[in-house]
This record gives sequence, C-alpha cells and structure tokens, in this order.
Amino acid sequence: MSLTISPVMATFCARVSGVNINQPLDEATFTAIRAAFDEHQVLIFSDQAMTDEQQIAFSEWFGHLEGTRGVNPASGTPFARQSNLDIKSGDVIPADDRRMFYQKANMLWHADSTFKPTPSLCSILTARVVPPEGGATELASTRAAYASLSEKQKQEIEDLVIEHDFAHSRGVVGFTFTKEELAGMKPARHRLVRTNPANGLKSVMIGLHAKCVVGWPEDESRALLDDLLARATRPENSYRHEWQQDDVLIWDNQAAVHRATEFDAARHHRLMQRTTISSGIKSNL
Ligand code: OGA
Ligand code: MN
Repeated sequence: MSLTISPVMATFCARVSGVNINQPLDEATFTAIRAAFDEHQVLIFSDQAMTDEQQIAFSEWFGHLEGTRGVNPASGTPFARQSNLDIKSGDVIPADDRRMFYQKANMLWHADSTFKPTPSLCSILTARVVPPEGGATELASTRAAYASLSEKQKQEIEDLVIEHDFAHSRGVVGFTFTKEELAGMKPARHRLVRTNPANGLKSVMIGLHAKCVVGWPEDESRALLDDLLARATRPENSYRHEWQQDDVLIWDNQAAVHRATEFDAARHHRLMQRTTISSGIKSNL
C-alpha cells in the first residue's frame, strides 16, 4: 500500500493512509508527510497504536520535543496529557483536582505553546483512551483567517507583534498559579503574521494565550484578536474530529487553532497524549 493524502476540506485537513508511522520511516516517506503537513495544516492518521517510544521516534522527525509544565497530568515526561487519568496510578483524577481545572482552558480556542519564546511548529496528539461519547477535538484554520482579510487589512497587520501570556490564558478560566510557578512565566512576543517557509502561505498565530497587540489600546487589541479568531472558526474553515482509538492528529500551531470539547469525566475515561515539537526559531522581539 502506498502513502495516500486525501484532503478533508479544500484547504484544511487531510487524511493520510498507507503508512505505518510506528515503523522506522525512510526519508522519502517523511518528506511526503511533511509536505502534506505544510499544505493542509492538519493531518489525520488512523489505526496507529503507539507506544510512548514510537510516539517520540515519529515526533522527532519534525524537530526537537518540548518539555511539559508542572501542573499537566503528564508532568515530568516528554508528553502533555489531556486526561482524567492519573499518569502513575491510572485512577480517575477527582473533578475538583487542580489538574482537572487546569485542563479547562483546553476547551477554549488556542494554539499550543505560543506563550514560549520559541514557538511550536506542531503538536502530535495520539488517542490512547477514547470515551464512548463526547471528547471530540475541533480545529480551525488561521491560514484561512488571514486569506479572508482585505489587502488593506493584511497590510495593517503585517508588522504587528502579539504578547502571549500563559498566566493570562489560564486566568481566563480562573486558574491561579503559586508565586513560584509565576516566577518562571514571562510573557513572550511573536509576530502575528507567520509565513510557512515551504510554500509562502501566511497565517496568524492567535488563540487563548494571545493577550494583546503590543502598543495598541486594550479594546482595539481585543477586537482584532477576536475578529481573527472568528474568521478562523467559521464553519467553512473548521473541522471537528470525533476520535477513534489509535487515531493520531498533527496540527500546525502557527496556522491553526484547536479546542477540546466536553465529555463525561465522571463516567468515562479519556487519555490523549501529546508531543509538542519546537519550531527551533526563538523570537528576538
Ligand atoms: C492538546 C489539546 C485537545 C483535546 O492536547 O493540546 O488541546 O481534545 N487537546 O484533548
Ligand atoms: Mn492544545
């Protein structure tokens, strides 16, 4: 069987089949996967039951992996976990546990790690335990958001710089950090407009962590960020993924936003395990 790329929507999301990404890949196969990623922003693979080692090995084709922050249920591993299961015991994490509250922000549109000085290229999310209902993930194209702007609007935003702040984004859902946690958390600044070096296509890096446009009054800043997000999440630019066990999704963190949706955490188990790949390009702003 040969590698096949089937677009889900005209310019957003594609299914990849005919490849086992748990086997050592060859250069040509990865080049085809990487080209599809640059073109479609989101790739969907099915039936890829992965071990942790296989997830790391596949992820490393894209670049260096990021570490995980302290409150994530997978803290201390190379993974981020969206889960109601304790990583050590496998038990359900109580609803009032800080780790569950921490994950609430995932239900708001965001891109991963935009608050870091070196933004992420992409995330790879593997479906380890899928609840029988609920828990879909929605994704939306910020490349389409950019494309929907007028030439004048594109010029107006071309040089804007955005401040991304993790304390701000967790604050939106009422999550608070200790003094020690806050000390290690400086906001990062990134250019709003991103250009994919492979094809020159532009997008905007936005989402929950994006706090403000540097140098703009707060209301104008918020209005612009909200408008860009509304453009990205129009139905024609977004996709809802209903997970099957062993699905793998890759999304571009500079050309797409995503969010988790509700599931009944008191009745069902859900374990999605993410690797986050660094872009390797530190912001100098
Ligand atoms: C993530 C994320 C969404 C989900 O892993 O970064 O936002 O549906 N996941 O679990
Ligand atoms: Mn995320």
